[in-house]
Amino acid sequence: MIAVVGSLNLDLVAPVPRHPVPGETVLGGDIAQHPGGKGANQAVAAARLGAGVSFVGRVGDDDAGQVMTDAVGGQGVDITHVRTTAGTATGRAMIAVSPAGENSIIVSPGANSRLGAADCEAAADVLRRAAVTVLQQEVPDEANHAAARLAGGTVLYNPAPVTPGTTPPPYVDLLVPNRTELAALTGTDVPRTTDEVVTAARRLRGAGAVVVTLGGDGVLLLEGTAHLHLPAFRVRPTDTTAAGDCFCGALAVALSEGRPLTEAVRWASAAAALSTTRAGAQSSLPARDEVEEFLSRQK
Ligand code: RIB
Repeated sequence: MIAVVGSLNLDLVAPVPRHPVPGETVLGGDIAQHPGGKGANQAVAAARLGAGVSFVGRVGDDDAGQVMTDAVGGQGVDITHVRTTAGTATGRAMIAVSPAGENSIIVSPGANSRLGAADCEAAADVLRRAAVTVLQQEVPDEANHAAARLAGGTVLYNPAPVTPGTTPPPYVDLLVPNRTELAALTGTDVPRTTDEVVTAARRLRGAGAVVVTLGGDGVLLLEGTAHLHLPAFRVRPTDTTAAGDCFCGALAVALSEGRPLTEAVRWASAAAALSTTRAGAQSSLPARDEVEEFLSRQK
């Protein structure tokens, strides 16, 4: 079983011809509303890939909260530990997507910001039993630190989004940043070349292994003194929203099945590549047979 501690957001998505610069208004296309939130996306990704998943999070007592619990619960995720917070709005995200599939996102955390150590302690039994516990940064540090402390299995920490002042849990088994998050965690410039990524990732302390997601440049895996670069699968992206979430959820599934890390990373990369070919967050997440079929077509 996989435990995910994290955010639930209802996403409002608009296509834009290009992303606006400060002070500029651009006219976009038709608005769509999708279930999202990094935590919820990771949980649904894992459930679609066949894992048993329990979620720890908070929604507000509004319509969006009902939409989110229906969406996540409807995908087979156990929502016993999703609490409704009275007098608070559910998390929302405003997302602009360019023709190249690149997104920019503003998150209004709402009830996600109320998640605390007590929520994780109430779910202690789930966290102790989980083969993998997945964490991100759209909920307070207090919740992530408590979850990491209570987790009985592998702790996968995805430091997304980069949030000034956030402290990662003191120890995680697997840290999964992208380039920007790696730069924020290490206080370096955003690394561009493979050598720069390796140098920056080696500065990280308190993680067993580091998996740096590089978008179209693939993934860099560092374990001990060794590192390995896995190239990206070639796809034509339409919307990269939730690709990182899909990667983390899929990686958790593969690790919970006892697969070696390199194989797990390749499988997760395939799932994430597929997710970029579809619009939206949870709407883009592939089923297990789709990932297997995609991989069978690769040389
Ligand atoms: O990673 C994508 C997610 O980031 C979106 O679903 C949005 O809710 C924000 O949390």
